[in-house]
Amino acid sequence: MPEKKYLNVKLSLAPMAGITDLPFRLICKKLGADLVYSEMISATGLFYGKNKKSLTLAQSIPKESPLAIQLFGNNPEHFAQATQIISDLNNPDKNFRKVEELNINFGCPVRKIYKQESGCFLMKKPLLAKKIVQAVLNNTNLPVSIKIRMGISTVEALEFLTKIKNLNWTKVIIHGRTYEKGFAGEIDFAKIKEIKETFPEKTVVANGGIFSPEDAKEVLEKTNVNELAIARGCLGNPWLFQQLKDFLETGQYSKPTLEEIKTIALEHAQLFEKYNATKNLQPFRKHLGWYFKDFENAKQLRKKLFSIETLPELKKVLKNQ
Ligand SMILES: Cc1cc2nc3c(=O)[nH]c(=O)nc-3n(C[C@H](O)[C@H](O)[C@H](O)COP(=O)(O)O)c2cc1C
Repeated sequence: MPEKKYLNVKLSLAPMAGITDLPFRLICKKLGADLVYSEMISATGLFYGKNKKSLTLAQSIPKESPLAIQLFGNNPEHFAQATQIISDLNNPDKNFRKVEELNINFGCPVRKIYKQESGCFLMKKPLLAKKIVQAVLNNTNLPVSIKIRMGISTVEALEFLTKIKNLNWTKVIIHGRTYEKGFAGEIDFAKIKEIKETFPEKTVVANGGIFSPEDAKEVLEKTNVNELAIARGCLGNPWLFQQLKDFLETGQYSKPTLEEIKTIALEHAQLFEKYNATKNLQPFRKHLGWYFKDFENAKQLRKKLFSIETLPELKKVLKNQ
């Protein structure tokens, strides 16, 4: 019997720099993600002459809708301009894409970003964070969401959110670990639940540590949220979204067969080639490593996959496997 309380659970692909590009988002969408987040895009990069790399990161097609674009930076003026540029992508007269949400990164702990006083650093600067959220809200009709950590230094997530609660942002994605914990350690379920209870009018999304359908169920039970964002769990396993839906509905799920993995890996590689306009699959090898990590002979196969350069080479290796 489906568990009614889980019928409305929404699953999104969390933003991952260097990973959640258009090809990977399309694959996750196809395999059950309800919403997909772009890699973080520099508001400053967009501000200065529509920086080409930054705009490439916003590349999209309507098929992946709904898409959320994430911006990072620390300058409200840059966010204002970047918001206009991204919102304009929805203009049917121009490059029609269907961006449905703008997300602001207040959670990134990576040194390079933190040193620029962006990402998680901004949780320590609520006044500046507020100005940034306001700048984004003033320049778009799209819903605006934020992504934060459970805390940084002495600042707790709840305290940070309370300081910016009066602004009209609609959703918060909480990576349930503090800045200090980085990417490992326990998720603070109790605090995510408390945030959900404190802000019933906002959508609260739990993120962190979901690698299996069982993990997801535990998070839902302990936090009472009805949205989850998944990052590392779907590397090489974009089936996780469908598995999770099946598990919540029926208590069961199946794992993909080797043939299914080959098919999706190839489709992903084709999309990679198409949207990056390149024949060079070297940067794609990391995905191949993830796709084939759990199989017998995986060591041999991975060795071959790590030396492929092009799509025909990939096809040959997979065919002979
Ligand atoms: C390689 C990598 C890149 C990431 N890039 C971003 C990013 O661009 N923006 C962001 O808000 N979080 C980013 N994150 C954090 C994830 O969105 C997520 O919050 C974190 O990995 C915890 O979720 P997980 O346990 O499901 O992986 C990144 C994480 C990884 C592993």
